[in-house]
Amino acid sequence: MVDVILGLQWGDEGKGKIVDVLTPDYDVIARFQGGPNAGHTLEFEGKKFVLRSVPSGIFQDEKINVIGNGVVIDPVLFRSEAEDLQKSGQELFSRLKISKKAHLILPTHRLLDLAAESAKGEGKIGTTGKGIGPAYTDKTGRNGLRVGDILENFEEKYQNVIEKHKKLLAQYNFSYSLQQTEAAFFEAIEFIKQFELIDSEYFINQQLAAGKRILAEGAQGTMLDIDFGSYPFVTSSNTVCAGACTGLGVSPKQIGEVYGIFKAYCTRVGSGPFPTELFDADGDTMRTTGYEFGSVTGRPRRCGWIDLVALRYAIMINGVSALIMMKSDVLDEFTTIKACVAYEWNGKRIENLPFEINKNIKPIYKEIRGWSKNTDNISAEKDFPKEFSAYISFLEKELNVPIKMVSVGPDRAQTILR
Ligand code: GDP
Ligand code: IMO
Ligand code: MG
Repeated sequence: MVDVILGLQWGDEGKGKIVDVLTPDYDVIARFQGGPNAGHTLEFEGKKFVLRSVPSGIFQDEKINVIGNGVVIDPVLFRSEAEDLQKSGQELFSRLKISKKAHLILPTHRLLDLAAESAKGEGKIGTTGKGIGPAYTDKTGRNGLRVGDILENFEEKYQNVIEKHKKLLAQYNFSYSLQQTEAAFFEAIEFIKQFELIDSEYFINQQLAAGKRILAEGAQGTMLDIDFGSYPFVTSSNTVCAGACTGLGVSPKQIGEVYGIFKAYCTRVGSGPFPTELFDADGDTMRTTGYEFGSVTGRPRRCGWIDLVALRYAIMINGVSALIMMKSDVLDEFTTIKACVAYEWNGKRIENLPFEINKNIKPIYKEIRGWSKNTDNISAEKDFPKEFSAYISFLEKELNVPIKMVSVGPDRAQTILR
C-alpha cells in the first residue's frame, strides 16, 4: 500500500520531521508534488537539515527515495541541496531516483514568478519566488520540459521554450540577465544526469507488486491546494491526497493510511485569508516560542489559533485516517487556549468554509484551559498534564479522527505514539 502524509493547514506543519520518524516502517519514500518552495526540517542527534526537493527519508540506509512525476525540479537548487547532503555523508546516487516525467523549473520560470508578483503589487500572492507557478503553468499549457528531456537534444528544446518566455518577460517591465544563471543551469543539468532517471510510475507499481511499503510525502498543505485551498492565494499543485495518485502514478485503490498533520495552533506565510490570525501578544508568543520563520525564505510566519472549520474540511477532502498533532509544546505557557469551532458569516453561524474566505468571516472560539507546564521533555502519554490530555480529547471529538502521534519538540526523539 501507499500511505500518504500531508499537511492539513497552510504548510510547515512538520511533515519533514514526521516522514523521518515514520521512515523505518517503509521501503520507499516519495515526493509527489511541489518543488523547492517546500522546506522540510529534520532534527536528530544534534543535527538539523532543511530539505527542499529531496524526500525526507534520505537519512536512513537502505531506503529508496523517489522524486515523482508530479514534482517540479530546479536543477540548480537541487544540485546545491544534493551536494550539501553528500558533504554531510549521505550516499545519494544509490538512494535517490528521479522521475523522467518530473518537470524542470527553468531560470526564466523564476524570473516570470518574480515579474508576475511585482506586477500584482498589493494583490501579490507572496510566493516563494522559486518559479513554481510558471513551471506548472507550462506543464498544463503543454510547453514544459521534463527531466527525461535532458537526455537528448536538450539545448534545442530549451531554446524553444526560452524564446517563448522572453516574449512573456518583455510584457513586464522587468530587467534581467540570463547569462550567468544559464551557465549554472547547464552545469546542474549535467549533475542530474548522474542520478538514476526512471519511469517512476513503473518503479512504484513494481515495488507495490513486490509487497514493499511506500510513504508518499506531501509538500505545502491542503489550504494551499490549487483546487481546494484559499484560491488564488495557493500554490500551483494538488497538495491533497489525490495528488499522490497523479504525482506518482498509483491507483486510488492502493492508498492505505492517510496521515494528516496539523499544528496545535496555525500559521501561514505569504498573503491570503487566515480567519484565526492573531495580531496581538499571543501571536507574537507563538512566533517566538515556535520559531515561526519560513525555512525557505526566512519570512516571519503569520500565527493564529487552531481553525477546526478548515481542519474538518481538510480531513474530508483527504480522507484522513490518522491525525498527527505538532508543536503543542509551543502552547505550554498559555493559561487559556482558543479553538475556532465555527465562523460567524453575514450574521449567521456556519460550520463549512464559504466559497470566499474573506474579512466577513469572524471566528467563533471555544476557550480551553491551558496546561501551563513544560511538555517538551515528556516521552510517554501517561505523563501528559491532564489539561493537555483534555485538549487532545476535545480535538479528537471535534475532528472525529484519532490523534495517533503527538510531537512536543523538533527532535526526532520528541515524538509520542498513541
Ligand atoms: P514542514 O514544511 O511541514 O516539514 O515543516 P517546517 O520544517 O517548514 O516547519 C516546522 C518547524 O517546526 C521546523 O522548524 C521544525 O524543526 C519545527 N518542529 C517540528 N515539530 C515540532 C514540535 O513538535 N515542536 C516544536 N517546538 N518545533 C517543531
Ligand atoms: P512546506 O512543504 C508554507 C506558500 C507561499 C505562498 C503560496 C504560493 O514547507 O510546507 P509558491 O512559491 O508555491 O507559488 O507560493 O504558497 N507556500 C508555502 N507555505 N510552506 C510551504 O511548503 C509552502 N510552499 C509554498 O508562501 O503563500
Ligand atoms: Mg516547511
